[in-house]
Amino acid sequence: MTDVLTEQEEAVPFYPMERGGSCPFDPANQLAALATEQPITRVRLWNGNHAWLVTKNADLRAAISDRRLSCDPRLPGFPHVTAFVETRRGDAPRTLIEMDFPEHTTYRRMLTKDFLYKRVEAMRPRIQEIVDGLIDRMLESTGPVDLVAAFALPVPSLVICELLGVPYDDHEFFQVRSNVLFARDATAEQAMKAFQELAVYLGGMMQKKAAQPGDDLTSRLVAEQLTTGAIGPDSLVAMLILLLTAGHETTANMISLSALTLLQHPEQMAELRDKPEMVPDAVEELLRYLTVAQSGARRVATEDIEIGGHLVKAGEGVILAFDTANRDTSVFAEPEVFDIHRDDTGQHVAFGFGSHQCVGQQLARAELQIAVRTLVQRVPTLRLAQSVDSLQFRKDMAVYGVQGLPVSW
Ligand code: HEM
Repeated sequence: MTDVLTEQEEAVPFYPMERGGSCPFDPANQLAALATEQPITRVRLWNGNHAWLVTKNADLRAAISDRRLSCDPRLPGFPHVTAFVETRRGDAPRTLIEMDFPEHTTYRRMLTKDFLYKRVEAMRPRIQEIVDGLIDRMLESTGPVDLVAAFALPVPSLVICELLGVPYDDHEFFQVRSNVLFARDATAEQAMKAFQELAVYLGGMMQKKAAQPGDDLTSRLVAEQLTTGAIGPDSLVAMLILLLTAGHETTANMISLSALTLLQHPEQMAELRDKPEMVPDAVEELLRYLTVAQSGARRVATEDIEIGGHLVKAGEGVILAFDTANRDTSVFAEPEVFDIHRDDTGQHVAFGFGSHQCVGQQLARAELQIAVRTLVQRVPTLRLAQSVDSLQFRKDMAVYGVQGLPVSW
């Protein structure tokens, strides 16, 4: 086991939003270099604290599955992604992603039924209807339109609203607050206010569902809470906030960046138009290549643990970097190349790995597959209405993306 660098001066500054090596989708040059040169690196965080950055695919998989790494943000040494997460200590209800075994298993079980493959497959016709409706409306105009506002954001937003039984008319209310929660530069006060406003909104929604249940996930969770008492009302609210925000931020950014990537690879876009059966593989490659969850998984060691041949001491923070793991040359041939034909895409960790692996991944896949296939087929002349250089990327957000994507056809 090799000893480690622990001096502050030797730690590399790590701001996970510094994307953009040779293209806007690449991890930062410095991180890409780290991924090939050393598997685990001491990094300095935005708040001056330190953590270990794990960059290799195999090390990430092994470490993320190890119960000696905790998700509990209240523990000292936890590598907080924003000031907001850092201030949520004490009794503040935690979300699923902030819980460890066995509490995590209890809460996660309540969700799995609704996100099972079969359930999601049954939702495909409705997702297709939503996607077609948005494209119809887009094509009624002569363009250019912003694909993010007209398409990428409303698809997952409409889907998650229907799943949770939340009125879509309120989408602006929770999109604005969700953006604050995901913004790295939001102050703890701003984020706390956004969280509390969402909590009040969803608390009201839970009361309505208790009185008048519908065929939706919120009604089922409320009924479960009332009958079994297994989950407190505050924890239920925190769970709903996570679903509402995680359910549309990630997928929306994947849809817009996928469109941009395909526009930059017109020959592969044309191939997908002719061979729609290739869309599922193409979506997996888009997930690998783009890796929007750019803040990585955050954990803290509760015991001494070896990662990548290095000793991580109890109480030290660990960041498991999905973006570099998805560009690991020991797993992916020419990882910087976007190629829908590759046969190694199955090794990607864009949805995480282990017990916290994304609960919504089947739903996200269905949305992405339908959105990509429909867009390439129904808008064959789609093109960028602005140069790539002038686009604004979401470097300051926990989830990577593009602020706006003006397109014509
Ligand atoms: C392309 C879209 C998506 C991506 C890239 C993505 C990515 C991720 C990743 C990387 C994790 C693991 C984080 C960690 O281990 O710390 C995660 C967890 C999670 N995701 Fe997603 N996600 C997506 C869509 C969704 C959707 C549509 C939903 C729900 C409707 C969702 C709900 C969740 C939840 C609840 C967790 C926490 C699971 C747990 O802790 O057990 N995600 N996601």
